[in-house]
Amino acid sequence: MIKIGRVTVSLEMREVYLDDRLLQVGSRAFDILELLILARGKTVTKDEILRRVWPNSVVEENNIHVQLSALRKILGADRHAICTISGQGYRLTVPAEGSARVGLPEAIHGGQAGVARLSGLPVCHAPLIGRDGALAEITRALNGTPIVTLLGPGGIGKTQLGIAVARSIAAASDMEVCFVTLAGVENTQGVVSTIAGALGVGRADDDVALQSLVATLRGRKLLVMLDNCEHVIDAAATVCELLVQTSADLRILATSREPLRTRDEKFYWVAPLDIPDAGANSQAILACSSVRMFLAQMRAFNADVDTEPGSLDMVAAICRRLDGVPLALELAAARAAVFGIRKTVSGLDDRFHFLTGGRRTASPRQQTLEATLDWSYQLLSATERIVLHRLGIFPARFSLEAACAVAACERLSHNEVTEAVVGLASKCVVMTTLDSKTKEYFLLETTREYALRKLYESDEADEVLARSAAYLAWFYEQPHGRGFRTATLGNNLGAQSVASR
Ligand SMILES: Nc1ncnc2c1ncn2[C@@H]1O[C@H](COP(=O)(O)OP(=O)(O)OP(=O)(O)O)[C@@H](O)[C@H]1O
Ligand SMILES: [Mg+2]
Repeated sequence: MIKIGRVTVSLEMREVYLDDRLLQVGSRAFDILELLILARGKTVTKDEILRRVWPNSVVEENNIHVQLSALRKILGADRHAICTISGQGYRLTVPAEGSARVGLPEAIHGGQAGVARLSGLPVCHAPLIGRDGALAEITRALNGTPIVTLLGPGGIGKTQLGIAVARSIAAASDMEVCFVTLAGVENTQGVVSTIAGALGVGRADDDVALQSLVATLRGRKLLVMLDNCEHVIDAAATVCELLVQTSADLRILATSREPLRTRDEKFYWVAPLDIPDAGANSQAILACSSVRMFLAQMRAFNADVDTEPGSLDMVAAICRRLDGVPLALELAAARAAVFGIRKTVSGLDDRFHFLTGGRRTASPRQQTLEATLDWSYQLLSATERIVLHRLGIFPARFSLEAACAVAACERLSHNEVTEAVVGLASKCVVMTTLDSKTKEYFLLETTREYALRKLYESDEADEVLARSAAYLAWFYEQPHGRGFRTATLGNNLGAQSVASR
């Protein structure tokens, strides 16, 4: 995707969006826009435009002016991005902050633009919202590192972001791009044969030896996007490491709910979309990417979107309660399109029953909010599951010390709890704070609801509540705990909300 002010252009899809709205652009106008973008700030002569846009006919120069004025109209306030270079031609200059081709590094860029092969890469049907910075950063990371892994909890947007990065690289370089999904794969052999199948080495169900795959990769300038690695993480890690050691020109962009932990890997934690603060005004609410995404989704369902302050406050509340997680927002927008925004806000009190109407064509694990958590949950060890249930008691950030105090018992040592918390964090089930001096943990609201349900199903709630009350009493007696009412353990609200269930 290329941004020119408020306008976003997808060269691959030949689509132009104003904010989130798809615009009608004639094919000749688009051809000219494409030429200007691919020239990357250089002047495109009138002759070049005539040759490219009207290849088999002789037309008046006036036709160029007509198309350019249509383009400038589309660009609106950013119309001056297209400059006329007197007597020569035209040039696209993009303002620095809205800048084009999200910072594609030279080493990746290099080649002849737009001719890359895109093998199996899904098309983007709508522009990604709120990910410009991430796109640039990941592209840069791929320039210097063979394996970049996009990490994050279910539905946070790893796959969509990965696809956008891959498309952006493909459109501006001569790199081959190959998309491989491991969603349906179960073991090492499956990982190898699926990658081999996607790269055209035998059929996916052939018993393809890893070494023959390795041999075919040598000398190919290739970006492999390996989607959904978490459930075959060991196999994916082994194969990825071996492949990048074979070819210096190979790049792997993996998505996973857990790091591959290979030698040559950089991680990129995909953040939730930004959410409005409580009490934010309409302008601040509308500036948040989670709100823009929610409203765009409602429009996609042909729903009337009311942006009056009262409704916007409710939309803001939805985005906050869903922690800015795109999949959850998408499910909520589908509900809001049918039941209205007010009913959706109250529906979130029972979100696992309410957010069930996902796209029929989405993968099963993305059709309901519960299914996306189930997918992560079934990949946890037995101890991690027990500890997760118990951590549901925390309504806010907590320290490792607090986690041990609440989750350890005669049957589970402090060491085991520590291991489990670290494991849950590395699997993106428990989130960690980046901004405080001491490391703290927290659960997204949806994960917490899920954990609490499991806690109640397990009949351990009273025991855990008692330990949490004892810890709180002890904590507030400590010098650092006095007067620290919304402290590490959160406040008493947590115990109340659990107790009232
Ligand atoms: N930035 C975004 N703007 C608009 N829509 C988005 C954005 N990110 C994700 N989505 C939408 O949210 C949904 C979930 O995104 P995606 O499939 O990329 O999540 P994921 O992190 O890969 O999930 P999983 O862990 O289940 O594979 C998709 O339907 C996608 O279209
Ligand atoms: Mg995914």
